[in-house]
Amino acid sequence: MRMILLGPPGAGKGTQAKMLLEKLAIPQISTGDILRAAVKDGTPMGLEAKSFMDSGGLVPDSVVIGIIRDRIQDEDCSKGYILDGFPRTIAQAEALDTMLSELGSGIDAVVSLQADEEELVRRLTGRRTCRSCGFGFHVMFKPPKAEGVCDECGGELYQRDDDQETAIRERLSVYGEQTQPLIDYYRGKGTLKEVDGLGEIQEIQGRILGAIGTA
Ligand code: AP5
Ligand code: MG
Repeated sequence: MRMILLGPPGAGKGTQAKMLLEKLAIPQISTGDILRAAVKDGTPMGLEAKSFMDSGGLVPDSVVIGIIRDRIQDEDCSKGYILDGFPRTIAQAEALDTMLSELGSGIDAVVSLQADEEELVRRLTGRRTCRSCGFGFHVMFKPPKAEGVCDECGGELYQRDDDQETAIRERLSVYGEQTQPLIDYYRGKGTLKEVDGLGEIQEIQGRILGAIGTA
């Protein structure tokens, strides 16, 4: 199964992908996570990406397309993968189509997760992420057992630099302008599955599995 999780910041792409990868036994490929790791390691790509990410803008298409081109050819992607946060522009979607047709494959399902703006802002301002394993929490909706400590691995929880309200509003506006058009793009290809992203995390997982036909 090669699938795309599409949705605005805070829609639950990362939360749902981390649950799906266990059920489907395929990796999650999050361009946001890969870019944050590059920023943390201070690589040339990380240095280039940081200012775009902190302000809530998009990193140039050429950078993220290069990341995906390399990653999807790794051995662990042979049975499929969950793309989380890629593609995010029409140019990225077209590049992905070209890449996949060259590799003789294609996307099986595009799950579009939706939630209203005030809910997205509530989710993002309260998000905490584990520095060690990347597991996600929320101070109110999914609190860790001990404040500041990851339930999964005992790592330290941190707040992302772009989870400040000004950057959040910019990310939402960039989503509307550059990423939302992908909904029509994939609807036109017949691969779009629209899933309500409001409600309990487990309930949404069930909706996604139902939409992709593995419930
Ligand atoms: P990225 O890391 O992909 O961020 P994003 O798209 O803004 O999405 P988020 O990770 O913020 O949200 P999510 O949908 O994963 O929500 P989550 O599950 O964590 O990208 C960051 C930046 O990198 C971009 O701004 C850009 O600069 C750059 N970038 C990345 N990809 C790029 C690309 N392709 N092209 C160009 N630039 C790119 O959930 C959020 C919170 O809500 C959590 O606390 C969670 O616990 C909670 N939550 C989840 N579900 C529920 C629920 N049902 N009820 C209550 N709370 C919930
Ligand atoms: Mg995410």
